[in-house]
Amino acid sequence: MSLLETADFELFARIVQQDSAIVLQPGKEYLVSARLAPVAARAGLPDLATLAARLRSRPSDPVRASVVEAMTTNETSFFRDIHPFEALGQHVIPAVTSVPRPDRTLNVWAAACSSGQEPYSIAMTAAETLPPGWQARITATDLSPAMVERTRAGRFSQLEVARGLSAPRLVAHFQRVGTEWEASAALRATINARTLNLAAPLPLMPRFDVVFLRNVLIYFDVPTKAAVLAAVRGVLRPGGYLFLGAAETTLGLDPGFERVALGRAMAYQLTTRGGRA
Ligand SMILES: C[S@@+](CC[C@H](N)C(=O)[O-])C[C@H]1O[C@@H](n2cnc3c(N)ncnc32)[C@H](O)[C@@H]1O
Repeated sequence: MSLLETADFELFARIVQQDSAIVLQPGKEYLVSARLAPVAARAGLPDLATLAARLRSRPSDPVRASVVEAMTTNETSFFRDIHPFEALGQHVIPAVTSVPRPDRTLNVWAAACSSGQEPYSIAMTAAETLPPGWQARITATDLSPAMVERTRAGRFSQLEVARGLSAPRLVAHFQRVGTEWEASAALRATINARTLNLAAPLPLMPRFDVVFLRNVLIYFDVPTKAAVLAAVRGVLRPGGYLFLGAAETTLGLDPGFERVALGRAMAYQLTTRGGRA
């Protein structure tokens, strides 16, 4: 692996933060080298110094997007941490559907959805718990076009389905296609996957009953975390729920959410002081 000069590390870190808000602190040089060496090779460049020189002379070169994408961490699994999905099925869906609504649609946003395990876990939970006549509409977004494409395809390897998906759910919602497992057409139809950068102003979005924003705020600095939470607040319905990752919180960042226990899960509910920012 090629050695990374400090100035080149700083350039990559600046680009990644500008384009994705992901903060790469000094000390991450090895990670950056490991992730960017294949990017340089694919671009036909001999080393990371040449990749950095390319980006200095041509800041808008298409390889820039590959650099940013390579620095995202896409770790995920089905029903990750389980409790938020139990809370969705046992508390949130019964509460939402107890109030009559003309379109009988549960709107959920899986922000930073990675390869799709999270939105498909939401879709399975909804399919199993929504009352007859109700449907789920799940907006699944990620910065990475490759992850969005994977989410849209709804195909998972044997290794991926073995992480968190029970045998009854695998049989009920997936079919084997070659060496992979494909989510049912019904499940895929509930998921609308598209690219979205949480660090940029949000496009026009539906009002959501629930937002899953899990294991992504950890990569951002404090002002970005606060800005993302304010933007999420603006698209949640009053009383709507936000689920964060186990290491994440709104505390000290956004007073518009109240921390509530839903069974064994912690959720953040939009308070009456919340609403569109
Ligand atoms: C660790 S995964 C979390 C996946 C899933 N939410 C979970 O908890 O299992 C983090 C995801 O955040 C995405 N991401 C990073 N920065 C982002 C940004 N600025 N906007 C949108 N997504 C981003 C990455 O591409 C990656 O897929």
